[in-house]
Amino acid sequence: MADTYDVVIIGGGPGGYNCAIRAGQLGLKAAIIEMRKTLGGTCLNVGCIPSKALLHASELYEMANTEFAGMGIGTGKVTLNLDKMMGQKADAVEGLTKGVAGLMKKNKVEHFHGKGRIAGKGKVVIALEDGSEMTLETKNIVIATGSEVTPLPGVEIDEKQIVSSTGALELESVPGKLVLIGAGVIGLELGSVWRRLGSQVTVVEYLDRVLPTMDGEISKQAKRLFEKQGMIFKLSRKVTGVEKDGKALKVKTEAAKGGEEEVLDADVVLVCIGRRPYTDGLGLETVGIEADKRGFIPNDHFKTTADGVWVIGDTTHGPMLAHKAEDDGTACAELIAGKAGHVNYLATPSVVYTRPEIASVGYTEEQLKEMGREYKVGKFPFMANSRARTNHDTDGFVKILADAKTDEILGGHIMGPHAGEMIGEIALAMEFRAASEDIARTSHAHPTLSEAIRQAAMGVEGWTMQM
Ligand code: FAD
Ligand code: NAI
Repeated sequence: MADTYDVVIIGGGPGGYNCAIRAGQLGLKAAIIEMRKTLGGTCLNVGCIPSKALLHASELYEMANTEFAGMGIGTGKVTLNLDKMMGQKADAVEGLTKGVAGLMKKNKVEHFHGKGRIAGKGKVVIALEDGSEMTLETKNIVIATGSEVTPLPGVEIDEKQIVSSTGALELESVPGKLVLIGAGVIGLELGSVWRRLGSQVTVVEYLDRVLPTMDGEISKQAKRLFEKQGMIFKLSRKVTGVEKDGKALKVKTEAAKGGEEEVLDADVVLVCIGRRPYTDGLGLETVGIEADKRGFIPNDHFKTTADGVWVIGDTTHGPMLAHKAEDDGTACAELIAGKAGHVNYLATPSVVYTRPEIASVGYTEEQLKEMGREYKVGKFPFMANSRARTNHDTDGFVKILADAKTDEILGGHIMGPHAGEMIGEIALAMEFRAASEDIARTSHAHPTLSEAIRQAAMGVEGWTMQM
């Protein structure tokens, strides 16, 4: 006998588990199907969480080696125990994934371990680990199957020598030479981890800038700062193949426009040229859903073209970020329950957890120019912020973009200490459709890093010295 649910969610990542929790809270009979052993998806298992655990530990390691002495802190010889560093990362992952399983129980969501597939309207089949199958009947199906690494033709990932982010989070020793393909978020975050632990890191990027979706000024300064830290950038170049020569790798590159060949030596190559939606074996054809050319399932307020089938998170449009997937999941559950649900992607911040951190929300200056929108700019460098000075952490700046006529904040970009925490203030202001003057007139404690945001906003109003 098949069970009947109000909603069955396929995929237990941030999108799926937040959708399930909200559905449970709203009194819907909900089930979540996850093919991994643990819930939490890419983010908790092989993404946000393990990468941040390694970024934190490697940052402290580098600071202990290079900065403590300058602050009068003596240490013995600072050593690296990579097994232990990987162990604390695994602890963070384990604790958080178990926490999600607990939240399912608390909110009365049934959790099935297996691969789910849609088998026509209102039917989901689960392929269980023992080879058997079971069918769930449901009024609504939510696709939350996330994304996977975009492969690069001619470069075969083995997760040992030629790795994706998943393998790069599990390396057993520090590679002497690490070549990254792609200067995006993963490249700069995981490149920073291994550089701090001792690797020589070279980044091959197809475009002529790093972090190409960020504000141009931020990209430019970021490249300069990462170069100062020792990363080598090969911009406007592409990788045409990687040859294995025993333990050594030969990375064949050429100019993006062709010619000018160069071969790079590497011990490990990390392929990080983006991610693509994962919908393998999902049975989309049984309900007539067609993905677009890039594999994304189109949606209108999370509704797909099939009646009673919804889609959220990395599998559909919008930024491929954990908190976006969470917001989608919550709003989708609310819509299924007959309530209002909406997500404003313009006010969704995005953060690169390097040092300095880089955080952005809203439009970049390039986007505003392209839109022909008239805007004002305010900037403030951390070099002039007293807290950044006391902390000896002065790289970077805050930049606020506001409408030239109404003063509404259109974008905020921060490169500097705790940028990822501070961007929340600008995101909140944008959600409230605040004017830059609202931030400029709001009291900010002294001495804090957030005073740099206020100063940038004052810059928009013309009240402060601009950079
Ligand atoms: P996922 O988290 O991908 O979850 C989908 C789940 O569905 C997976 O567990 C998968 O096993 C399961 N699944 C797929 N198909 C089926 C099926 N047929 N049946 C059952 N289960 C299925 N984002 C941030 O915001 N901040 C960060 O710091 C950050 N760091 C990242 C670092 C790395 C290295 C990577 C790779 C990504 C990072 N991201 C980060 C992105 C973030 O992980 C994703 O945007 C987020 O996980 C998307 O959530 P989701 O629920 O849509 O999909
Ligand atoms: P990305 O889209 O951030 O960067 C990919 C880079 O590779 C781009 O600069 C692109 O121009 C370049 N590229 C594409 N094809 C190339 C080629 N053939 N040769 C050389 N360069 C090429 O993708 P990335 O870094 O793989 O990360 C995937 C996604 O995961 C991110 O877009 C983000 O959504 C998510 N993520 C988020 C994090 C965060 O929020 N802190 C951390 C890590 C990942």
